[in-house]
Amino acid sequence: MAATIIDGKQVSSDIRAEVAQDTARFKEQHGVTPGLAVVLVGEDPASQVYVRNKENACAEVGFNSFKFALPGETGEEELLKLVDELNDRADVHGILVQLPLPEQIDSNKVLYGINPDKDVDGFHPVNVGRLVIGETIFPPCTPAGIMELLKRSGTGFTGANAVIVGRSNIVGKPVALLLLAENCTVTICHSRTKDLPSVTRDADILVAAVGVPKMITGDMVGEGATVIDVGVNRTDEGLVGDVDFAAASEKARAITPVPGGVGPMTIAMLMRNTLRAAELSLPV
Ligand code: GUN
Repeated sequence: MAATIIDGKQVSSDIRAEVAQDTARFKEQHGVTPGLAVVLVGEDPASQVYVRNKENACAEVGFNSFKFALPGETGEEELLKLVDELNDRADVHGILVQLPLPEQIDSNKVLYGINPDKDVDGFHPVNVGRLVIGETIFPPCTPAGIMELLKRSGTGFTGANAVIVGRSNIVGKPVALLLLAENCTVTICHSRTKDLPSVTRDADILVAAVGVPKMITGDMVGEGATVIDVGVNRTDEGLVGDVDFAAASEKARAITPVPGGVGPMTIAMLMRNTLRAAELSLPV
């Protein structure tokens, strides 16, 4: 039977509508408008599009957005100074420094300079630690989006075999922790994994986050699995995921397409994290 296609555009739109409602209530109750500062260094075209989409999403849910576009030759000290100023601003509840940064800047130094309570990306080690011990405040946006897609497509978690291919700090590792927190049995695979197909075939939930076009072939997917494709690979064929969608669809129960699957979710979860940051900023 052909798989159900998980519509990330629709789920993202539903979540943004929920955040907009919660934001209207929050503003009415507290007289505070959530604010997100987005910092862009340089002129990378893809980053410019992402930043514009973030500004549009802020307007849609009722947030203030503050954009800081700095020239590509900006130095680390100058960027750290801006981050410090944003840390101190009461009208800025979330800070996002768009990655990648130019090579003269140490990205980790900048990300670690963000006040963890404004770190809506969830990349600061304090927030990574909170995630590890199950005290998550800001789950990283793409992994959080994956969890919402799984939940809203009726995927069962407790006792499920969740297999993640890819061990990045931004997707693979954090999504493993979120799945573990939902009582999945979690396996993280990577380039040195022995007999990868035998591991992936056993997955009830299969998350592909490697950045290799169509690496997950049909024979690597077990019958009835839920398949989440995090790949965004620009090829001659256009945008292609890490999963061979046509072949995997014949085996899976449900599957995300590329584009229109995980991609649109990241921004919705960023909006949710920013509202959370504003809520946490209120005096107790
Ligand atoms: N660049 C690509 N994805 C991301 C993300 O999730 N956060 C930030 N800050 N930059 C990115």
